[in-house]
Amino acid sequence: MNRPQRVMVTGASGQVGVDLVDYFEGRVPLGGREDFRPDGRDLDSAEFEVMGLSHHDLDVSDAGQVDRALAATRPDVVVHLAAYTAVDRAETEPEAAHAVNARGTGLLSDAAERYGAHLIAVSTDYVFDGLKGSAYVEGDETNPQSVYGATKRDGERLCRPSDTIVRTSWVMGVRGKNVAHIIADRARSGQSVRFVNDQTGTVTSAADLARCLVALTRTRPGGVWHVANSGTTTWFEIAAYIGEILGRDAEFAEPIATSELSPAPLATRPPRSDLDTGKFHAAYAALPDWRDAVARLVRDRDLRPS
Ligand SMILES: NC(=O)c1ccc[n+]([C@@H]2O[C@H](COP(=O)([O-])OP(=O)(O)OC[C@H]3O[C@@H](n4cnc5c(N)ncnc54)[C@H](OP(=O)(O)O)[C@@H]3O)[C@@H](O)[C@H]2O)c1
Repeated sequence: MNRPQRVMVTGASGQVGVDLVDYFEGRVPLGGREDFRPDGRDLDSAEFEVMGLSHHDLDVSDAGQVDRALAATRPDVVVHLAAYTAVDRAETEPEAAHAVNARGTGLLSDAAERYGAHLIAVSTDYVFDGLKGSAYVEGDETNPQSVYGATKRDGERLCRPSDTIVRTSWVMGVRGKNVAHIIADRARSGQSVRFVNDQTGTVTSAADLARCLVALTRTRPGGVWHVANSGTTTWFEIAAYIGEILGRDAEFAEPIATSELSPAPLATRPPRSDLDTGKFHAAYAALPDWRDAVARLVRDRDLRPS
């Protein structure tokens, strides 16, 4: 029998990390869909030996720690999820964001090469300026408008062509901190919400993304891949849909323009950064529609450990 693939996951306590480690270990992540198998294969938990490392276990911006982590675990694949993800705070802490998102990713790519591991690094739609006017494909030019986006783009540039870069967007996990939970809490407590209707993008279920990352771990394709749920939307449409699921009427969510946000956010978001996922669809499978993903997230919220 073949030995299990050894997989090291950075940022394992984060929103995507908890779902990914769950799935690698044979559990269906909360918010997951049983029948979504991007490479058509069931997961056999004996296939993988997973080492999920939280920030406490490994600081990816520390060269010595990164080297020692790979030397100790000798992974076949490193799935790199650790990131400085506070998009607005990054505007005032650019060095801190750079240390994790750029330097940390470069250190992991270097160490992966030294120890013969394949790196899968997760990146973002915020590497784009959002001015293209249609969905972004993998080869489109990057032009980040925020510190967060720039540091993630710099991280991509520090990867090797043989590494796999997965750009994803608007990630929502049942156990993650994300806007969908704020919307659902307000819907349940009888409050109303205002959300921007002039930023278009693609939602990604953390549970669906986890299944795609497992397929990529098996196949180690290299290059850039866009992975997100199908269909484009806006934050207002997401809010209105969550309100509808929870039985609120059309008054629950009010559409506003980004220019009406007060206080104005520090970071500039791309006005239209939906990811074209045709490459992933052709090689693996299309991800479920974003409404299906959001409905599962709302369905499973009450199952979260407190
Ligand atoms: N969330 C989104 O909407 C979104 C969209 C596009 C792309 N992405 C990308 O997807 C990946 C996963 O995101 P996520 O939503 O799971 O983010 P998350 O919930 O913020 O998790 C990121 C994790 O990284 C850890 N971390 C921060 N600095 C670290 C360091 N120096 N060394 C090691 N770990 C560190 C954090 O730990 P502490 O909290 O303990 O510091 C946290 O557990 C990231 O690469 C992110 O850029 C996310």
